[in-house]
Amino acid sequence: MSLFHIIHLKETESTNDYAKALLQKGELSAPFTLIYTDNQTKGRGRLGRSWESKEGDTLCMSLVAPYPRKPAITLLSALAVYNILKKHYCSLKIKWPNDIVAENKKLCGILTESTDRSAVIGIGINLNSTNFSQDISHKATSLKLLTGKNYDSFKLSKKVAKELSKLLRKTEGEFTDSALKKYSKLCVNIGKNVEFRDKSGTAIGIDKDGSLIVKTKESTEKISSGEVFVSGIY
Ligand code: BTN
Repeated sequence: MSLFHIIHLKETESTNDYAKALLQKGELSAPFTLIYTDNQTKGRGRLGRSWESKEGDTLCMSLVAPYPRKPAITLLSALAVYNILKKHYCSLKIKWPNDIVAENKKLCGILTESTDRSAVIGIGINLNSTNFSQDISHKATSLKLLTGKNYDSFKLSKKVAKELSKLLRKTEGEFTDSALKKYSKLCVNIGKNVEFRDKSGTAIGIDKDGSLIVKTKESTEKISSGEVFVSGIY
């Protein structure tokens, strides 16, 4: 039995939107489905942002998995992508909750969305890009910029989907002790000064529920969503 079903699209606005439309129509029968597109024209990022991509340069995929609203999924997804990308470039970190970072710049972003029965895990990897728009050029990098090599986007998406579906099956979408330990070790926020909402403090750990624990002057807070700026990174 194959680990996941594959839908390969020439072009779509957003693989996450495509996945959600199929889920709504009840047209996804396999437990895990990879939706991959050669060209995403209206990609969405976290917190209502857009996601920049270019055909041939950016890997755009979504994995649909049978787990509703489990907060750890988004962090587990970062771990799975990390496991694949580190085979190509070894010095990678994770910026909470789920950016993959190299040389303090963003290599991959993940947008996880849930329906009542499934998770849609949207993954964007800057693969063969050599330039970015002015808005993000100071904080984005690509695998090609890091290694000088070109990558086959579809092939890599299948590796990511395989790794992620294996990890989710193994953990059932929960943050196991070993996943939490590994994530915490890789998390670039830990020990750094971070800014969130209108506050700042030192990130001291990751909670079992996936939130970032930050010690401010006044208290210790658990951050479960939103943007966190890490001093010296972005
Ligand atoms: C972020 O860092 O803000 C998350 C970016 C997620 C981008 C991916 S690309 C494939 C999938 N489809 C989308 O519309 N977004 C995600």
